[in-house]
Amino acid sequence: MSKLLVIIGSTRPTRAADLIIPWLVRKTTEHKAFDAEIVDLRDWPLPIFAEHFGTIGDRNDPTYSDPVVKAWNTKIKEADAYLVVTPEYNHSIPGGLKNAIDSVFASFGFRNKPVACVGYAGGPGGGIRAIEHLAQVFIETEAVPIRNNVTISMVTNAFDAQGQPVDPITNASADVMLDDLAWWSAALETARAAGELVPGILRRQAALTATR
Ligand SMILES: Cc1cc2nc3c(=O)[nH]c(=O)nc-3n(C[C@H](O)[C@H](O)[C@H](O)COP(=O)(O)O)c2cc1C
Repeated sequence: MSKLLVIIGSTRPTRAADLIIPWLVRKTTEHKAFDAEIVDLRDWPLPIFAEHFGTIGDRNDPTYSDPVVKAWNTKIKEADAYLVVTPEYNHSIPGGLKNAIDSVFASFGFRNKPVACVGYAGGPGGGIRAIEHLAQVFIETEAVPIRNNVTISMVTNAFDAQGQPVDPITNASADVMLDDLAWWSAALETARAAGELVPGILRRQAALTATR
């Protein structure tokens, strides 16, 4: 089974994310491929990113500026796949979510692992612009953002009294997304086990040093 972290990207009181979480917990626990864990950024009081080489120390066992940053890097590093639940804020993702991704620093925790997204919004866009931004961000972390995600429009009216999505496309999209995420997770677990390249940024540094 793949170790899946379901990362909740909104932390504000009254968040609409709470409409989505119970349904998504059911979907991910019902899926046979995953050992799923909710990672709520409310439970991770990460400081505004302030890491630098002085806070890292030993690259093989980084210190970081705060124990919670170290624990966060360990949490991310131990997983095989990620499902990020993000609202759309000003056509992007919440600043706290970006900060949490930036805080995975020097550990290459997301590297060579797949990421899917559930986006949502108060309007008709369904968080699509947040998802597009996330894909760009995750490519830089060397994660593998997948194509089939879930968008939820008009989120405050998107679930019925039983917590089920009103629009059947939401469940259908989630099933496709989770199957794709499981496929990529298994494929990349096999690939990682066979051996990973040293991260490109370090190989490039080494190549430049060799020329001096
Ligand atoms: C700071 C902020 C910016 C927002 N920007 C957008 C936006 O660009 N597009 C959109 O469709 N909805 C936007 N919304 C509406 C949110 O998507 C909607 O309120 C959603 O419920 C937020 O998720 P949350 O309640 O879980 O934090 C914005 C809301 C906030 C608070």
